[in-house]
Order: sequence, then C-alpha cells, then structure tokens
Amino acid sequence: MCAIKTSSTMEALKKAAEIHGTPLYVYFEETIRERARRVKEVFHGINLLPTFAVKANNNPNLLAILKEEGFGMDVVTKGELFAARLAGVDPFLIVWNGNGKSKEEMLHFLKEGVRTINVDSFEEMEMWESLSPEDVNFFVRVNPEVDARTHPHISTGLKKHKFGIPLNMLDSFMKRFKGMNIKGLHVHIGSQITKVDPFLEAYEKVVEASRRYGFEEINIGGGWGIDYQGEELNVQEYREKVVPLLDGFKRVFVEIGRYIIAPAGFLVLKVILVKRGENKVFVVVDGGMNTLIRPALYSAHHRIFVYGKEGSDFKADVVGPLCESGDVIAYDRNLPAVEPGDFLFVENAGAYGYTMANNYNSTSKPAEVLVKKDGELVLIRRRENIMDIFKDVVM
Ligand SMILES: Cc1ncc(COP(=O)(O)O)c(C=O)c1O
Repeated sequence: MCAIKTSSTMEALKKAAEIHGTPLYVYFEETIRERARRVKEVFHGINLLPTFAVKANNNPNLLAILKEEGFGMDVVTKGELFAARLAGVDPFLIVWNGNGKSKEEMLHFLKEGVRTINVDSFEEMEMWESLSPEDVNFFVRVNPEVDARTHPHISTGLKKHKFGIPLNMLDSFMKRFKGMNIKGLHVHIGSQITKVDPFLEAYEKVVEASRRYGFEEINIGGGWGIDYQGEELNVQEYREKVVPLLDGFKRVFVEIGRYIIAPAGFLVLKVILVKRGENKVFVVVDGGMNTLIRPALYSAHHRIFVYGKEGSDFKADVVGPLCESGDVIAYDRNLPAVEPGDFLFVENAGAYGYTMANNYNSTSKPAEVLVKKDGELVLIRRRENIMDIFKDVVM
C-alpha cells in the first residue's frame, strides 16, 4: 500500500500546484511528525538526544516542527546553523559536523553558542586546541572501516573515504589531545542504508572503543534507508539488534535526515510535452536535475504518480528541459497516457531534494508548500525569480 494513492494526498498536491505553480515541493506535516515519533520510539528506554540532519532539508518551517517534536539539529555550515536558529532551535541542541571547518567558522559557531562539536581529524583538533574554547564537548568522528552497502557517493565509513579517524589511530589521538574535553565518539557510515547489519558491525566496534575510554556519551549518526524502490530499514530489527548495544550510555545522539523528511515530501512537476522518438518516448516535464538532482547524481529511483490517471500505456523516460542528457527524473517508466498539462508527483522527494536544487541553465529554484495537519496549504518558501539568480552580479 502506498500513501500517495490516498486521494486526499493527490488532491492536496494538485491544489498546491494550481495555486503556487510548478515545479513545486510539497511537504506533509503529519508525516514529518509521525516519522519523527517513530525514530524516538525505536530508542525507547535510551536517554536520546535526537537531532535532524539539516543537510536533508533546511526549510526553517519544517525544522520548527521537528523542534516541537523534541529534535535538536545536526548542522555542517553557517547556513545550516542559520536555518536552525531561524527555527528557534537552542544552540545547546545543535551538533556541528564537517571535515573542513575553518578557524573563522569555528569562532562563529562558538559565538553563536554551539557547544557540541564532532571533530573529524587530528589537524582539526589542533585548530581547536589553538583556540582553547571553553565549555565545548568534543566528539571524535571515527571511521570504523565498515561497508554501508549503499551508493558509493553516500557511503562514508571506509578508510578510503575522507571522513573520520581510523579506529586504530584513536589511541594516539586520545594521548595527543588528553587536555581537550572529549566526551565521546561519533560515527556515521553513510546514508540510505536499508540493512541492519552494517549499523551493527560499526556500532559494535565503536561501542567497544567507547567503553575502553570510559565514555558515557556516543553519537551514532544517521543513515536510515527508506523505501524508494521496495526496501526500507527494518526499524523493529534495528531496535532488537542495535539498541541493546547502547545500554548504559548516559546520552546517545542520533542524526537522522532522510528517514524523517524524504517520505514527507513530493516534487510536483507539469508535463510540457510528450516527445515520440524513433524507438523511445520522452515525457518532458518542467523541472529536471535543477529541481531534483538525485536521479542524475546517484541513479536514484523515485516513484512517480500521475494525477487522475493510472495504468501502463507506454514506457518512457521522464526528462527535464535542461541542456544535458543526464537531465532525467526517471528512466524507462511504465506510465499511463500522459498529456501536456498533467501533474506528475515524484515521491520521497523531501530529503536532499530542495537542498540539492540548483540554478543550472539559469533556472530559478522551486517554491515550497506545507500541508498542515488540518489540510491548510501554507507557502513556506516562495519561488525564486530571475533577479534572485543575478542579484550578486557586479557590472
Ligand atoms: C555526519 C552525518 N550525519 C547525519 C547524516 C544524515 O544522514 P541521513 O539523511 O541518511 O539520515 C549525514 C548525511 O549523510 C551525515 O553526513
């Protein structure tokens, strides 16, 4: 059963598109809250500080909903910190991640009151040491050499990846920085992980190392996979196998993005024309890799629904209007008989959708709409206009 099939979802998406135009991102408040609660339930019994990974979606209106659900924020840049602060999140509930923090950024984050920092390298810790910050809790990101079995670009837990310190270098790290307030270890092995085993393998290693150093806190990152194409992380199995490992920690941080926000969002596109080639059909829509780059970047699969039509009349590539052959939303999809003007709903677009949207071909970024619990449609980001794209040009 697919949530999108509910006619109220379809109607809300269509209404939003009629009012605000396309391409358009539409999010459902109810789904955000439901998914956020599901994450917390998985850790029931653990002293959890759940954080939301702002890289997945930075709209402050959505972050404010997650704040209400008891989430802090995981941020990487000054921009993401700004979004979290716009949402009213207390800086004490903000975790700062990243493998390339500059000194200027460090001073900024300290000034803004952020006090939980995941350190990625010896070299970064030397920079912190030179600043001698007060009351900062450092977590050391370790690289457990575990294969997340996901797309290579979103896999982060092998030594060949740029993130973290190999576990076998932890002893020398701890000796070198024994004067710094290191509270625990941090690990994040990748994103869109649909199997429990890679988590288990990584956390067994990192929990064992944490116990060796007597750490009472741990940050286990995010990465929970969702059902783009049939398989989602089995959270019941995760609860049974992974959560017991965390018993005894005084505080456990998680940093979840995709699992919460992807299923809450849809990208609505409009069919411009249907081009019939010699042996291929192209459904050309009004947003492509500028609005949703995941299919082009990761060969990602998103299910697509057509408003008011069902069935499988022909097979087509759904493509954008940009000057790139890679400008594709979906390859070889069985579609009903779509016509110009039809609305297409791209499912699971709430994560890494808008935040990865871009202005290629000098196109403006889409608007964003929130469907509130009572069904009210609220514009939460206006569509960019051409002047937004050229506002920084100096002539
Ligand atoms: C350090 C870190 N934490 C959390 C996340 C969130 O991952 P996800 O959206 O898969 O939950 C990411 C994204 O890759 C990340 O790099």
